[in-house]
Amino acid sequence: MNLPSVSPVTATTPSLSEDEQLAHLASWRELPALQQPRWPDENSLREVFAALRSAPPLVFAGEVDLLRTRLADAAEGKAFLLQGGDCAETFAESTAHHIRNKIRTILQMSVVLTYGASMPIIKMGRMAGQFAKPRSQDTETRNGVTLPCYRGDAVNGYGFTEAERTPDPQRLWRAYTTSASTLNLIRAFIGGGLADLREVHSWNRGFVKGNGCDRYEQLAHDIDKALRFMEACGSGTQALKAVEFFSSHEALLLDYEEALSRIDTRTGNVYDCSGHFLWIGERTRQLDGAHVKFLSQVRNPIGVKLGPSTKVDDALRLIDALDPEREPGRLTFITRMGARVIRDKLPELISGVQAEGGRVAWVCDPMHGNTITSSNGYKTRRFSDVMNEVTGFFEVHRALGSIPAGLHTELTGDDVSEILGGTEKIDEAGLARRYETLVDPRLNHQQSLELAFLVAEMLAA
Ligand code: PEP
Ligand code: CO
Repeated sequence: MNLPSVSPVTATTPSLSEDEQLAHLASWRELPALQQPRWPDENSLREVFAALRSAPPLVFAGEVDLLRTRLADAAEGKAFLLQGGDCAETFAESTAHHIRNKIRTILQMSVVLTYGASMPIIKMGRMAGQFAKPRSQDTETRNGVTLPCYRGDAVNGYGFTEAERTPDPQRLWRAYTTSASTLNLIRAFIGGGLADLREVHSWNRGFVKGNGCDRYEQLAHDIDKALRFMEACGSGTQALKAVEFFSSHEALLLDYEEALSRIDTRTGNVYDCSGHFLWIGERTRQLDGAHVKFLSQVRNPIGVKLGPSTKVDDALRLIDALDPEREPGRLTFITRMGARVIRDKLPELISGVQAEGGRVAWVCDPMHGNTITSSNGYKTRRFSDVMNEVTGFFEVHRALGSIPAGLHTELTGDDVSEILGGTEKIDEAGLARRYETLVDPRLNHQQSLELAFLVAEMLAA
């Protein structure tokens, strides 16, 4: 890694001076950029931008390249992506306790999935950078008072006061330092033995026993046997502990993403070093918009969320813009159709992309098309809808002979009550018990594992 600078994605263009490269990366500024805060203090924004520009990168280009090859495997059915974490991370909850519980949950899910899929699971947190949210309204009104809406801790505070809700660029710096400390702890946990397969699976046994999940008893038992077999064969302890874990977030705030982009001295290519994997949300994926432009210029693997209104032509043009060379692992389409329509809408999209030779990884987000408001006023989802969308996703891919490459979820490792149903049968009244999310509802620890067992069954089928 070196001083911040930029070069085009493929590095095939004649070399540009650093200034020219920088100007190139900043070209998103000439295009409409949706969902950007109205920062009241331009000077403060410039100061933070300069500080972020000279700060150490959060991830290393070599790790980002490794992830691209892993995702290329997923697109071909040789690996499966598990991506999960909060809808919105917060500074207050970026504590050791919360981070450990999330990592533990993702690792537990991945053991179950590894067994079901008989292939490597790519583990990725919506973590260490997921601090900015697109919103459907610019403002929120309560009792006749109108204030800017909450856009994530990287922008403003959740409290309903003018001071809290005013966007503050210093928060971008805090998003960076909090991402750094989160990533540091994740690396320590993973390197320090938290990911030991035997240990992680013993937690799963606890889950199956504690919940009367007879349905999963056999699967848990089979995993036990497989682990004992591996050990008996002398598959070294090291292999059982070795885990790769990647970070990801929605690349929403383009000032932040630009400021953390760095030129890789090995290759001369530009990487957005705020995280390994970055995605463009359903609300900011306009073909002539700033987000697509910016992310077309960095080497990271990129995701794009696709909702039910996506046309085949949109998908094809996104491929042209973000993956002109059809490079395996470069582009992931994260579909979030909704349980009711996935079986109608997804097939056309997949067939259209296949017909044009697109080589994307298809990932299912069963969360964002299934958000409802409960009769007692909670933003929630039905666990049965989440399961139904995942089932539909697998059915569609099986019918078309295409590859289901992964699962994208909003989850927490804690015992919250934000999603209806699951083995604990959370009902509308039960939502009040522990509803903590500031934006979208998350699967709790139990529901996350239940989902993993379901997906494992489907992968094994
Ligand atoms: C999200 O992932 O939290 C999100 C806002 O998703 P989408 O862009 O799919 O609506
Ligand atoms: Co969300």
